[in-house]
Amino acid sequence: MITVRVPAKVNLQLSVGPLRDDGFHDLVNVFHAVSLFDEVTASESDRVEVVCDHADVPLGDDNLAARAAHALAPGRGVRLEISKNIPVAGGMAGGSADAAAALVACNALWNLGRTPGELMEIGGTLGSDVPFALLGGTAVGTGRGEHLTPVDTSGTFHWVFALADGGLSTPQVYGECDRIREATGEAAVWPSLSEPLAKALADGNAPALGGALVNDLQPAAIMLRRSLHRTLEEGRELGALGALVSGSGPTCAFLAADETHAREIAVALTGCREAVIAHGPVPGAVIV
Ligand code: C5P
Repeated sequence: MITVRVPAKVNLQLSVGPLRDDGFHDLVNVFHAVSLFDEVTASESDRVEVVCDHADVPLGDDNLAARAAHALAPGRGVRLEISKNIPVAGGMAGGSADAAAALVACNALWNLGRTPGELMEIGGTLGSDVPFALLGGTAVGTGRGEHLTPVDTSGTFHWVFALADGGLSTPQVYGECDRIREATGEAAVWPSLSEPLAKALADGNAPALGGALVNDLQPAAIMLRRSLHRTLEEGRELGALGALVSGSGPTCAFLAADETHAREIAVALTGCREAVIAHGPVPGAVIV
């Protein structure tokens, strides 16, 4: 039996470029792994089966962890038990995290000896965010987000995540982003890594990082879930150094000055289902 712990991510810069012919967008996507973890336990079975302690996770063959097992060794069986802490459809790459954990767990359980690079390559075929869940830390993703380069950081950043009821569909949020751009005549520009963001990360400068956070999907997520606007405002009023929708939402992320500040913001936030604190960067999927 092998258990793998895998982190959630928040996007510090999510710059969405033009829509490609394959239906994806070219991105500059600065991923940051935070200390909200799922655990996936793999054990022997004669078929691929998934069990999960969260009712909203699909358990069939479209489950990303099941697809990871199939992709790694077609025809082999495994029982995958997912213990969820990462919000489901929350914009924190929870499904991708479970796929990454399943890759690491099955590789060990089945003694396949695949290298981290080989797992990242298979991960990239499963979803744009899977390679980062294997890598962890802070990294810039280009292409669909699957081509990764680690980014220099100093120290630890403290976050508050405002969890919402229900999820948002990632394809729908990207579609809304395209629709808004078409309606406003705003051309999608070819994105590049934000220099102020990279400097703030390298310096471990939380106030500067707070001012440099950017998410091109945010207007689309707010259009689909109007209440997010108020949640972001509330966090700013409580003194957050930065506030943004995490990925395609609906989770909102707030950067705090330190852990005490994060706790204060989390306790005071009212416009969300639950507020949790976490820190980053943390490592990617690891066997525990
Ligand atoms: O790769 P992943 O399965 O996470 O992508 C989910 C959906 O998000 C895609 O089907 C696509 O609609 C959208 N997407 C995109 N451009 C990306 C990544 C995702 O349009 N770079």
